[in-house]
Amino acid sequence: MTTEARPATRHAPRTPIAAWQPRPTLAGVDYTSGEVYAVEREQVWFGGWVCIGRAEEIPDPGDYLVCDLAGESIFVTRNRAGEIRGFYNVCAHRGTKLLDDEPACGHVGKVFKCPYHAWSYDLDGRLVGTPNVDEDEQFLRDDYPLHAIGAETYAGFLFVNLAQPAARRPLAEHLRDGTESITNFERYRLDELRLGRRLVYEVAANWKIIVENYNECLHCPTVHPELVQIVPLYRFGEVWDGETPDDGNWMVDGATSFTRTGRSELSPFPDLRPDDYRMYSGTFQFPNLMLNLHPDAAMTYLLLPRGPGHTTVVSEYLFRPETIASPDFQPDPVVELWDLISKQDWTICERAQTGVSSRSYRSGVYPRKDRFLFEFNEQYRRALGRPTLR
Ligand code: FES
Ligand SMILES: [Fe+2]
Repeated sequence: MTTEARPATRHAPRTPIAAWQPRPTLAGVDYTSGEVYAVEREQVWFGGWVCIGRAEEIPDPGDYLVCDLAGESIFVTRNRAGEIRGFYNVCAHRGTKLLDDEPACGHVGKVFKCPYHAWSYDLDGRLVGTPNVDEDEQFLRDDYPLHAIGAETYAGFLFVNLAQPAARRPLAEHLRDGTESITNFERYRLDELRLGRRLVYEVAANWKIIVENYNECLHCPTVHPELVQIVPLYRFGEVWDGETPDDGNWMVDGATSFTRTGRSELSPFPDLRPDDYRMYSGTFQFPNLMLNLHPDAAMTYLLLPRGPGHTTVVSEYLFRPETIASPDFQPDPVVELWDLISKQDWTICERAQTGVSSRSYRSGVYPRKDRFLFEFNEQYRRALGRPTLR
């Protein structure tokens, strides 16, 4: 079952499966310490591309989306030309927070106006209004724009980058940098999909525990009795049979949808590969996006860390727009199975967080079926500027 056949779609090297030897996990303090979290904020969350949501949240000029990214409030908007722009949520006058976190989405006509002294900024972040600043002050508005961040889209996902412009890698390069990549799934036409349901979970676990849990299925036979019914390979603790492309896995015979019955009333996505209609594919995009693909639905997890021991997980269910528009649109069977699996995962992740917080826990071990976790840890070490172990 496990001959290593590295598909051409993969970009980062992997350890051949046959040569796998037990490898160490991250250290306990990596999941619990404020010092490590402070480094992660700079290197991971403010140092590279991070997903913050879907572009459909801001379809028109003046629409905006506010996000608390690891404690930094930022927002993205669309300018008059429809281009995405991103900024720190901070007034250039005396630093006041411009936009509220709730509601996260909104719309302005032409300008963002600060609630303190009413300075205003256009959709490109230029300071255009400074009430009561007199003409004889020789005040140059051009010198005080909003602080810009990188903001781009790929496949309908919004990505931001808080690094200095010269330090920003091209988004496409970042997306293809890991052992897995959402760029392998263009045939699903993700940019055309639309939000049908959103669930938000507050999880008392470090974001890396959630990523690691996502990338292995050793826990599936014990934690997910319903999941292993629909994806039989998961009974054996494996996440990929090494032969199907892009980490896809066969659903049980006869299943055409990711539901308890294996069926749904949702229309299948058009123009997939024949095998896709019987498969579930899951992929992790470093650092915080997990993409689950089914024949008729996509589901994403977006991780937003709130501290070393707390993560907000936004779970969005995406469908074809015409499926959502149909009068008999019924996403419940897919949502119910995923919601059940999600809650099973969060419960066990919180339990793992408790355990790794013990003073007795220095580090654990990855057997072979945990190999994707090691790959994630290697990417994490690279992002933090630590030596890799390979
Ligand atoms: S702090 Fe924003 S206008 Fe004064
Ligand atoms: Fe799980």
